[in-house]
Amino acid sequence: MNISNIKKEFPIFDNKVHNNDLVYLDSANSSQKPRVVVDRIYDFYTKEFSNVGRSVHYLAVAATNLYENTRTSVQKFINAKDSNEIVFTKGATEAINLVASTFGQNHLKEGDEVLLTELEHHSNYVPWHYLRKSKGVKIEFAEINEDGEVTLESIEKKITPKTKIIGVTHLSNVTGAILPIKEIVQLAHSKNIPVLVDGCQGAPHLKLDMQDLDCDFYAISCHKMYGPTGLGILYAKKKWLEELPPYQGGGGMIGEVKKEGITYGDLPNKYEAGTMATAQVIAFDESIKFLNKVGMDKIIKHEKELIEYGQEILRKNNSVKLIGNPKTKGSVLSFTIDGIHPHDIATILDEDGVAIRAGHHCCQILHDKLDIAASARASLGVYNTKDDLDKLNSSINKCKKIFELK
Ligand SMILES: Cc1ncc(COP(=O)(O)O)c(C=O)c1O
Repeated sequence: MNISNIKKEFPIFDNKVHNNDLVYLDSANSSQKPRVVVDRIYDFYTKEFSNVGRSVHYLAVAATNLYENTRTSVQKFINAKDSNEIVFTKGATEAINLVASTFGQNHLKEGDEVLLTELEHHSNYVPWHYLRKSKGVKIEFAEINEDGEVTLESIEKKITPKTKIIGVTHLSNVTGAILPIKEIVQLAHSKNIPVLVDGCQGAPHLKLDMQDLDCDFYAISCHKMYGPTGLGILYAKKKWLEELPPYQGGGGMIGEVKKEGITYGDLPNKYEAGTMATAQVIAFDESIKFLNKVGMDKIIKHEKELIEYGQEILRKNNSVKLIGNPKTKGSVLSFTIDGIHPHDIATILDEDGVAIRAGHHCCQILHDKLDIAASARASLGVYNTKDDLDKLNSSINKCKKIFELK
């Protein structure tokens, strides 16, 4: 599949926004969906629908097979050792909550430390905060440097004998910094500390290999990977899924239920309580096929060229201040313009059909550290082009004119 005309695979681009072609630069928030994914949802509901893992009739067995096929596709896509290490969740947020809650139950007590970074999304902070409240766990933050990166040294500085788990983002959704996950995991494991990676921004933009990264947990957001909403993935090493308690109770996750007691189902059912997001899981297989068809190597090369081009034109634009200058950067261009609130920037750009995000991007700790309340963020997907970035820049210029800036 050719990246240069890939927009035609996405029906959303057939529509106009305020009479303009859509320039979608908000993929870090959620990506657009290729036709194959949308069609798969429609086909499943109209021709193949049944709940999975319960009944023995034709539709139920066929749907269960499709559901499990996606698990195997995900396993291959991220090179996990075993398909039972793939747990479907309702999003990356739920995947991280699952880890915080179950790991917290078995492994954390008052005074223990959870080490996060200043780059973390609220989804990788708030679930740990609950343990601060309920158990008296302490949260430490590895600091960013002036380029908006978190280095291995910055992590090492904050590790103490009380550090019981490290939670790090793979790719910052604000500065775009790509963290040295493999090295962080090696360091952590040398001290017997497990590592959870928030892979929401990593998974759509980087080639993943769980066996090589060797992290203990990796959280994925399917709606940022050209997949349906309401679906996430937790990759966890089998030893953890076997050892940790279930996260939610209900149908589907049990072995035997008696008045006297309950046993839990085998992996991964133990972590998939209740009716799951069946159509979304089945359609997500099409997202993976799509990514494989385009090729992650090609996607990475394409997005690298775009990010370099985007940085180049925005750096030349007076009064645009890019946030962060990491050595390895992916997919996001966050910026501020002195004298214009990011919400005003986003609103004016929207009139031209340019969709960006403004706010703190669920990273208030980072924005506090940068001493700004909010920023504007243009984020890239496989469908973006240099032309999109030129339109972003000319729309920013229009915005500056309105505010009488040079
Ligand atoms: C870095 C990061 N972590 C976590 C999340 C939450 O993911 P989800 O929407 O799948 O719960 C997001 C989504 O914005 C994100 O960008």
